[in-house]
Formats: sequence, structure tokens, C-alpha cells
Amino acid sequence: MPRALGLLDEEGGIMRPIEVHRHEVVIVGAGLAGLFAGLHTSREFDTAVVSKVYPIRSHSGAAQGGCAASLGNMMEDRWEWHMYDTVRGSDYLGDQDAQEILCREAPLVIYECEHLGVPFSRTPEGKISQRPFGGHFSEFGKGPQKRACHAADRTGHVQLHTLYETCVKQDVRFYSEFFTLQLIFTDNGACRGIVAWDLRRGGLHVFHAKAVLLATGGYARAWKVTSNSHANTGDGLSLVLRAGLPLEDMEFVQFHPTGLYPSGILVTEGARGEGGYLLNDKGERFMERYAPQKMELAPRDVVSRSIQTEIDEGRGIGGKNLVHLDVRHLGEAKIMEALPQIHELALKFTGVDCMKEPIPILPTAHYSMGGIPTDTETHVLRNSAGEIVEGLFAAGECACVSTHGANRLGTNSTLECCVFGRRAGISMLKYLREDPCLPDLPQDAAEPARQRLQGLLEAKGSESAAGIREILQSTMTEKMGIFRREETMKECLSTVKELQERYKKVGLQDRGLVFNTELMEAIELGSMLDFVEPIVVGAIARKESRGAHFRKDYPRRDDQNWLKHTLAWKEGDSIRLDYKPVVITRFQPEERKY
Ligand code: FUM
Repeated sequence: MPRALGLLDEEGGIMRPIEVHRHEVVIVGAGLAGLFAGLHTSREFDTAVVSKVYPIRSHSGAAQGGCAASLGNMMEDRWEWHMYDTVRGSDYLGDQDAQEILCREAPLVIYECEHLGVPFSRTPEGKISQRPFGGHFSEFGKGPQKRACHAADRTGHVQLHTLYETCVKQDVRFYSEFFTLQLIFTDNGACRGIVAWDLRRGGLHVFHAKAVLLATGGYARAWKVTSNSHANTGDGLSLVLRAGLPLEDMEFVQFHPTGLYPSGILVTEGARGEGGYLLNDKGERFMERYAPQKMELAPRDVVSRSIQTEIDEGRGIGGKNLVHLDVRHLGEAKIMEALPQIHELALKFTGVDCMKEPIPILPTAHYSMGGIPTDTETHVLRNSAGEIVEGLFAAGECACVSTHGANRLGTNSTLECCVFGRRAGISMLKYLREDPCLPDLPQDAAEPARQRLQGLLEAKGSESAAGIREILQSTMTEKMGIFRREETMKECLSTVKELQERYKKVGLQDRGLVFNTELMEAIELGSMLDFVEPIVVGAIARKESRGAHFRKDYPRRDDQNWLKHTLAWKEGDSIRLDYKPVVITRFQPEERKY
């Protein structure tokens, strides 16, 4: 490890970056997408992974229920049925070329995981076990389907550990607990590196590379009630916005139906896949009213709206902001075999033993369908014409390719990380094989990051980052939730603008050099204040309801005017929007009924 002793030099200024690391590939983020890419690039090229957290603490490890693939181990299945469900689930906003790749390549990545040693649950005859999940059906939406390959309810955890071990074995170089602050571009607009702050030792580092992959995950920490880990603050999206590049479809944010009450910690949809019921205060299986055929296994946007409607109409348990998820009838043996983590989480966080009592749940901010626009080879796009940013790639939740459109199906997220992480690895391999030479970096390439850190460390303002963050999270939960209206979204936007101003006056108590969590949280808050604005502005502009974006004032889908993707740029103090068409290949838009 190169020596980097602190942030400040003898004169009290932040050290010029004293460490420059050269690799052929630099991957930002150590979740499933980043590691899948690293697995492939490291077979030929020197690959580094730079991660804000220790790799196996990446949020992919919190994915519980499974990873979709039409293996057909439990019943007949076909990738075309998986694609149909994904297209319909996306409320026809997904790009069907990307959705076809996702579903066609799903079995391939599951077998790749299996061969690497991922310990999937097994059927009695030794095949990978698969279970039902919301929105996944057979025969073009007709019958039930078992498509989620799983390892009990710890699927992401075991995938992440296996990929990490394999990357270590393949000599991927890990820079753990390095916070990426800036992308470096050369004069011709190509991305050739990043600048990162070493959280443990305090130094500023330049990572110079021919290809940079952003795999920084999601951002639902901008909401108060969320299933996301504390690290999910959308830093990658902020890097892209600050570089003058657009974000796509940011208004589409998924609320998972079953977060543990009141925190929002994930209770897997696998619990309903295994046969769990949703009950209101009257003990009714209320999904009969909203999705009489598919019931608890309707897609997430439908189930979350149904729960919120029950709560809003006074049928929450005890009149409160929660309903019940009941798995008692599954019996102890099934719960311990298929849902052991849910049993443990409910017991530890709410004191409820789900074998004896129903679990209190509420919808929770969970997943971002939008993100950094890419093509299907994972190149980052700079505009609606599809021009690419040379040297820059993105995959996983931070990217928008767009496989999920307006609403993602459960288990298609870890799948997207594997399929498009793998494709990112292969794209970067091709790119480097064509011309591996590494162009020079501009002089003072890290100056913006250095100035940003120095500015925050020297700031003497009276505002606290933690105080601003709390207001932001509560506002997003109250005003940018499952049901939206013009008026409340406009109120949300004016709060965001006000908080952006207050952020300029943040002052830190801790001016230390090493593991300065206050400084780290202030930077994370800056990221959140960057990317929430395109979410709100895009949502106000989109005058229709589609997938997870439901407007009470425009409750219908409007294909004539809004069957298109949003692109959003930060320009000065405002957000500029543009639109691009949706790719439709096999399935024409229809009404969604479940
Ligand atoms: O419910 C779950 O286990 C979450 C899965 C997902 O978001 O894909």
C-alpha cells in the first residue's frame, strides 16, 4: 500500500495528490456488478476495485429473495416468458433490446455463479431451487412460476462473498474504504481515471486508467424509510451530474411493499413467494381488492400502492402506518429452511417471532430504476442521440440501460448486476484489446476534488450536515412517496432548493485527518442534494402515472405523450430535461392487469 499520511501538508493546505496509481481498469464499487466485471477484466488486464466500504459490506449483500432465470428447474419456463413479464412489469418503459439480453443471458450468469461456487439452495434431486416472486408468471402472464434462484433468503450475500473470493484469487487489487470524489477527463472528453479520498489514512489518490466502470449502486438513503444501507447515497450519480453528463428516468423510484415497521429494513418478497399473506386491521387479505388473480404476487408497484391505500383509508393495523405479513401457516420447518434471515430480522428489530405472530410491515424506498444512461454494452451515454463517453462504463443499480423501465420485478436486480456487470467486463476487455495504451492525464487532474475537500474542511458555517440530511430524508418520504401530486412535489422541490443553499453554509466540528465520518457524511449529503433534484423535476414534468411513478392528479398512463425516457442535466442552478424514445421490439404496450 502506498504511503499517504494525511490530508493536510505543513502549511495546512490539503496535500497535492501524492499517490498516483496506474491500472488498466478501475472499477468504482464492489457490489455484484463491479465484481462480475472485475472477474472478467482481471483475466487479461490489471484491474483495481475502489470501494467506499469494505467489499463484502456492499449493499448487494442485503439482497435476500433470489436472482431470476428461466432455468425451468421446478416447472416449465422460457426466457420469452421472463421477458414478457419484465416488459409488462416495467409498464412498457423498459428498452426491450436490453430486456431481451437480461432474460436470455440469465441462465448463463446463474450457471457461472454456480460454477464459481455460489451455494444455492437445492431441490431434492440436486438442482438449483427456484421459488415464486411477484410479477413472474408462466406462459405469457397466465399461471404461477418459480423463477427465483435462491440461497435460502441470503442470496445476494452468498453471491457477493463468492465473487469477492474469486476476484481476490484472480489478483484484482482492492482499495477498500476509498471514497471516490471526482472523475478525470482528458481534453477530448474521454474518462481516464478518478480521484478518491483514503478514508482510513486520510490521503488523496489519483487512479489513472484506460477504462473506468461506475458500479456504485443505488441511492434510497435519500428517504427516511428505506431498505438501503447507509452507504447508498448515490455518489456515482452525483459524479456524473457534476461532470456535465445526464441521468435517465430518475423519477422512477421503487417502494418495496414489505419493509420492517418502522425502519423499512427489507423483508423479502420471498416470504410472499413461499405463501405469506398480507392482512389489514380487519384481518382481510386485501390484495383481493387490487389484484384478484395474482394477489400478493402482483408486481411491486401494484402491491405497494395497495398497502398504502389500506393505510391511507384507515385499515392499517391499529390505525397506524403498517399492515401485517403473516407467514405463520408456513410452519417452523419451512420458515427455518427458506426464510431464516426474516425470522431473525423480525425478532431482533421488532421483537416479533414470525412463527407465532404476523410481521408488522410498511412500504420502503428500495430501488432506483433510473440512473446513468448506458447502451447495452454498458458505455455511458452523453445525450439522447446515443453518443458515448469514451473510457466510461456503468452497470448495476447506478446505471439505466433500461431493463426495468418504470418498475422493476423482484429478483431482476441482482440479475441485472450479474448480466450487465459481466457485459461491462467484456466491453472493457474489447476496448483494452483494441488499444491498451494509457494517455497522459491533464496537469492538476485532481484539483476539483482537492478544492472540494479543502473547502469543506475549512468551512466555518453554522449549518450541520446531519440536520440538513434529516430534513431531506423526511421530505422525500412525505412528498416523493408512492402517491404523488403536483403541489406536494413542488413543495418538495422548494425544500430541496433551500437545503442546497443551506448546504453551502455547512460547518464541521471534526477537522481530523483520519476516518472523519462527519466529513464523509457531508460529502454524501452533497451527492444526495445533487441527484434528488432531477428526481423531483422529472416527476413534476411527467404528467401521467406509469409503474412506480403514480400521480393522483394524473392517474392514467399516457402512451401518446409519455412513452419516452427522461434525460436530466444539471445546468447552473437548474435542471434541463430532454427525452428519448423507448426501444420496442417484441411486445406492444397493453393495459396491465393482475
Ligand atoms: O424481496 C426481496 O428479496 C428483494 C429482491 C429484489 O429487490 O430484487
